[in-house]
Amino acid sequence: MRKIYVFDTTLRDGEQSPGVNLNTQEKLEIAYQLEKLGIDRMEAGFPAASPGDLAAVNAVARAVKNVTVIGLSRSRESDIDAVKEALQGAQDPCIHLFLATSLIHRQHKLRMDKGQVLETAQAAIRYAKKYFSKLEFSLEDAGRTELDFMAEVVGMAVREGASVVNIPDTVGYLNPSEYGAIFKYLKENVPDIDRVQLSAHCHNDLGMATANTLAAILNGADQIEGTINGIGERAGNTAIEEIAMALETRSDFFGAKTSLVLSEISRTSRLVSKLTGMVVPGNKAIVGANAFAHESGIHQDGMLKEKTTYEIMTPETIGLKESKLVLGKHSGRHAFRDKLTDLGYDLPEDVLNSAFSRFKDLADKKKEVSDEDILALMEERLGIT
Ligand code: KIV
Ligand code: ZN
Repeated sequence: MRKIYVFDTTLRDGEQSPGVNLNTQEKLEIAYQLEKLGIDRMEAGFPAASPGDLAAVNAVARAVKNVTVIGLSRSRESDIDAVKEALQGAQDPCIHLFLATSLIHRQHKLRMDKGQVLETAQAAIRYAKKYFSKLEFSLEDAGRTELDFMAEVVGMAVREGASVVNIPDTVGYLNPSEYGAIFKYLKENVPDIDRVQLSAHCHNDLGMATANTLAAILNGADQIEGTINGIGERAGNTAIEEIAMALETRSDFFGAKTSLVLSEISRTSRLVSKLTGMVVPGNKAIVGANAFAHESGIHQDGMLKEKTTYEIMTPETIGLKESKLVLGKHSGRHAFRDKLTDLGYDLPEDVLNSAFSRFKDLADKKKEVSDEDILALMEERLGIT
């Protein structure tokens, strides 16, 4: 089984979500939990962004022991110096340099031609390599970069000794066929490409970040980048828990897995949500409150007979206790009786029938019928205690 390395950027790209600001203590708390989750690499922040972020990255670098700690840097010496300072004390430091390569960014943001982009990136890599043996280089907006120029920049990064080359779909523009084809092209056209690890970094503007990342894996990506709960700029980044569980559940298809401790997924998701203030939608894949909840009678009946009828993975795998059968107007007698048994009631058939019809009346008026509702229904309406 091929190992896919996990580069977590919850503390950097994730923190770039509008309204999110993590202090040093909060970054440390998340960093410790990410370490328990078993990620391979952790981008702790962007040290040149502010003195506070530099201090937070340094605190994480000193605290975390079993993970490569990474600081982000534009392709300029002052940023590289800031990362050098921030990663002092790290057991396994790595610098993450980036420069935009697409025509749109070259013309409107950088005001550089292709030659200047190549030169600037090369000079930055050479400067950073004096201080760092591990270096990742990202071609910002690679997703909208001409393929031949992309190959030229990647080839330069390989020759200059980068350890990882990252191909970001910065604005979430591509679809899985296109994104996968880029990795195939680079593998086939860049000399000595196997000297580096290729990395996938996707944004979710069109809701395709997970699919695009999986397409990259199928086409040779060694590393995936993402955040917990998929938080990040605009519509967010690839959700790491989705990739880990897609590879786990369909290892027959992908032939690849991460080495995450999957049972820590749920705890990590809750912590990131609490400290960032970003609520996880109920229907969010893997970690949403409804991801293992069943409401319809047909599904509940199936679940009570055999869980694999309606669940492709178990809640226990991600660290949850059990699936939930939610009682509502679509629920059937089987689930209702099961709930009553849980609550300690063993009713004769005729009483059960009348309780069930009371329950249906109530369910028509409420979105969800809670345990307290059922208890009240039993005690007050039927006079049973
Ligand atoms: O999305 C992006 O291009 C980035 C880079 C800084 C890697 O986050
Ligand atoms: Zn990004």
